Amino acid sequence: MVRETIRFWRQGRAVEVSGFHPRTTLLDYLRLQERRVGTKEGCAEGDCGACTVALGRVRGGRVHYEPVNACILLLGQVDGAELVTVEDLAAGGELHPVQSAMVDAHGSQCGFCTPGIVMSLFTLYHASERPLSREAVNDALAGNLCRCTGYRPIVDAALQACGEQPRDAFSTNAEHNVQGLTALADGQDVFIGDETRFFAAPASEDSLADLYARHPDATLVAGCTDVGLWITKGMAEIEKVIWLGRAAGLDVIEEASDTLGIGATVTHAEAHPSLARIDPDLGELMRRFGSWQVRASGTVGGNIANGSPIGDLAPALIALSSALELRHGDATRTIPLENFFIAYRRQDRVPGEFVRRIVVPKLKGHEVFRAYKISKRFDEDISAAMGAFKFTLDGRRIAEARVAFGGMGATPKRALETEQALAGLSLDDPSSWGEAMAAIARDYQPLDDHRSSAAYRATVARNLVFKALSETASGETRATRIIGQRDALQAAE
Ligand SMILES: Cc1cc2nc3c(=O)[nH]c(=O)nc-3n(C[C@H](O)[C@H](O)[C@H](O)COP(=O)(O)OP(=O)(O)OC[C@H]3O[C@@H](n4cnc5c(N)ncnc54)[C@H](O)[C@@H]3O)c2cc1C
Ligand code: FES
Ligand code: FES
Repeated sequence: MVRETIRFWRQGRAVEVSGFHPRTTLLDYLRLQERRVGTKEGCAEGDCGACTVALGRVRGGRVHYEPVNACILLLGQVDGAELVTVEDLAAGGELHPVQSAMVDAHGSQCGFCTPGIVMSLFTLYHASERPLSREAVNDALAGNLCRCTGYRPIVDAALQACGEQPRDAFSTNAEHNVQGLTALADGQDVFIGDETRFFAAPASEDSLADLYARHPDATLVAGCTDVGLWITKGMAEIEKVIWLGRAAGLDVIEEASDTLGIGATVTHAEAHPSLARIDPDLGELMRRFGSWQVRASGTVGGNIANGSPIGDLAPALIALSSALELRHGDATRTIPLENFFIAYRRQDRVPGEFVRRIVVPKLKGHEVFRAYKISKRFDEDISAAMGAFKFTLDGRRIAEARVAFGGMGATPKRALETEQALAGLSLDDPSSWGEAMAAIARDYQPLDDHRSSAAYRATVARNLVFKALSETASGETRATRIIGQRDALQAAE
């Protein structure tokens, strides 16, 4: 059975939509069709958060709300979810608690960012752990840019409103909403359009494999945090969209004793805790990945498949010797992740083939991992360089090293000369580390672009080799880090 509509939950009832262009964004749908213009467009590229709305999905028997950027989310991606916009919060003539707190704390001036901020606070109101820390609020607001009020009153409003147990129309109607959302989960393939132009959302991996093999020219969409920008900034004429978000099985995390299997559509937010358990530096990397909105939509599979030379996960997962599973029709194959990246934006993937899973080996007792994201801003910034190191120790000696960098060339790539120079080094003899630091210059021809110069990247990479060695030698991060202290991270994860 194929469904020719999308269905979502809105204001306590099911809504059905069909006949839309596959590249229609949720923001355009809200503003141009529903004529709900409370949700604003600022940057149209996922950076400012003015377009933030909440999507609710049933997890563990309750509705779990997450913020998303409507500007770079396709309308079709709301299938099966509850959609909440800023117009839905006030009830019975009363402001929602987060709105009241924003008024009380003077959290708004020109007001352009305010609907987005209110929606981020709405998701925090429903999702936050109590007691709520100022740091957790800062993280939750990292994807919302306010240009005039300043964040202190906004953070105060968050602390005031989100500290208590939720008591709003959404918590009162929780059971009704869970029932409504559960009824939407029909397990049917969605196909809206015809053979030349369609939005499709296969419900199983098999129907995805079949559809993509028949339409290898279609654009796969997972979280749409990259593809969305092709639409809003590149004005791409995308005619065929296959959304992976309903394909059962691709969203699964498999924890084994020695490996972590991450399905291609697992979002960054979902993968975060499992990755953090492998090493706190992976947890910190995920905390700094985009914003809450980007982590709630963006997927691990999308980050690998897009082949970006500055993607954050590829270097970390390559250093950990991860493997990539691909599928084409009925055939699957597994390759070392590092072999996937062939040249600038060219990957080892034939037409009609998709990424199905990433398998990450966990660290063994004598292995040490370090990952460093270097960017201009702490929050919501793409890396200038991203370096990851795995040292296999034999006492105080490095028996083997795996090093991978992003931002240092056309693809994420291992530093083979550096790895060779690191093997055999004594952690107790810093005077012998120079050759390994020098070797990195032979491994890469760094990018030279608006994010940073090639010379800066080369210096940073060399310094990161020293940093990884000195942190491993001392077992401490107090002298080497301002943020991401490993002891504190380990305690927090
Ligand atoms: C504001 C903002 C901040 C960001 N911050 C970061 C950051 O800090 N670090 C970082 O690395 N990136 C960042 N990104 C980039 C982006 O969010 C990530 O690369 C994200 O992981 C992409 O995943 P997605 O699911 O949204 O991919 P999509 O946009 O859905 O897809 C990306 C590409 O991969 C293809 N694709 C997706 N899934 C598959 C699959 N299973 N098989 C084959 N092909 C597939 C698509 O066809 C497309 O070519 C940011 C983006 C934005 C907008
Ligand atoms: S309009 Fe800026 S994030 Fe969507
Ligand atoms: S109140 Fe003006 S941008 Fe935030």
